[in-house]
Amino acid sequence: MAEPLVAIRNLKLEAGTARGRAAILRGIDLEIGRGRILGLVGESGSGKSSLAACLIGLTPANTSAISGEIRFDGQNLVGLDPTAFARLRGRRIAMIFQDPMTALNPLFTIGTHLVDVLRHRDPGLSRAAALSEATAMLVKVGIADPEARIAAYPHQLSGGMRQRVMIAMALLMRPDLLLADEPTTALDATVEAQIVELLAALRREVSGSIVFISHHLGLVAQLCDDVAVMYGGTVVETGPVDAVLTDPRHPYTRALIACEIDEDDAPGGRLLSIPGEVPDPVRPMTGCIFAPRCAHAVETCRSEVPELRTSGDGRRAACLRFEELP
Ligand SMILES: Nc1ncnc2c1ncn2[C@@H]1O[C@H](COP(=O)(O)OP(=O)(O)OP(=O)(O)O)[C@@H](O)[C@H]1O
Ligand SMILES: [Mg+2]
Repeated sequence: MAEPLVAIRNLKLEAGTARGRAAILRGIDLEIGRGRILGLVGESGSGKSSLAACLIGLTPANTSAISGEIRFDGQNLVGLDPTAFARLRGRRIAMIFQDPMTALNPLFTIGTHLVDVLRHRDPGLSRAAALSEATAMLVKVGIADPEARIAAYPHQLSGGMRQRVMIAMALLMRPDLLLADEPTTALDATVEAQIVELLAALRREVSGSIVFISHHLGLVAQLCDDVAVMYGGTVVETGPVDAVLTDPRHPYTRALIACEIDEDDAPGGRLLSIPGEVPDPVRPMTGCIFAPRCAHAVETCRSEVPELRTSGDGRRAACLRFEELP
């Protein structure tokens, strides 16, 4: 198999909090294949955004003690100096956020944003050439009347339209790694479906790899090649999306899928959740992090930390008992 674009080994991230040191990432092992779309799923607080923050070098100020390794095309990003990281950002690694307003400057037009991105990539480009490339990209992301939109300010566009602009900006960078942190969560269901369709249609435009973070397993199944299921700052299961979602090995993956199926049937779109609480990052972990909520846990699960082990079909699961489970 070709060398993955990103290989993460035993990545740990801690943060200082009023209650003590919090373990946000507890030893992540994960690979992102070249040209593949990896879905990152898991309940709120499982560490998805924190992992993305490590990948783009923007961890919060109170986080410290990042350890392990993130090999990005051979270069270790853990401990990389901020200037070198800034050079990678916006050229080789780009991010689309949940709320595009956080990334768009209200004082600048859409055209200025797009031209800036292009000039960052290619400083010699003339403004006219940049504007014409920007206009063509707006058409590609489904923005009608691009000449008018290019003169508009961010607040003059709808939420869905702003997210399309963010996608256009990300595509213009031609990054090797594109991180999309819940890019559709703030949108209503119809617009969300349109944006996911757009991302699926545009995947040919991106020669690099994409990490797509989502709460919604259905969207991940539609868009992604691979999936990694996160829980309590760990990856509990990973592999090709079809294999993992149709035949999950880890009890947590099974519980997540069961919730989503029930949710689709529930009247009024009631939010269902797995019984029990997500682990407290300040509490030290002994044994399997999911054991307190797991219906299959036995004594050893409470004392032994399970490693990610191969479970066939290129899949790996971190469960001591996955072979025995029905
Ligand atoms: N800077 C920080 N200081 C202290 N705790 C933090 C910090 N950043 C994240 N955490 C904690 O780390 C855990 C993981 O947070 P993170 O935002 O990565 O989760 P997430 O999977 O992205 O959740 P969501 O689905 O809600 O976006 C949470 O318990 C969160 O409270
Ligand atoms: Mg998040």
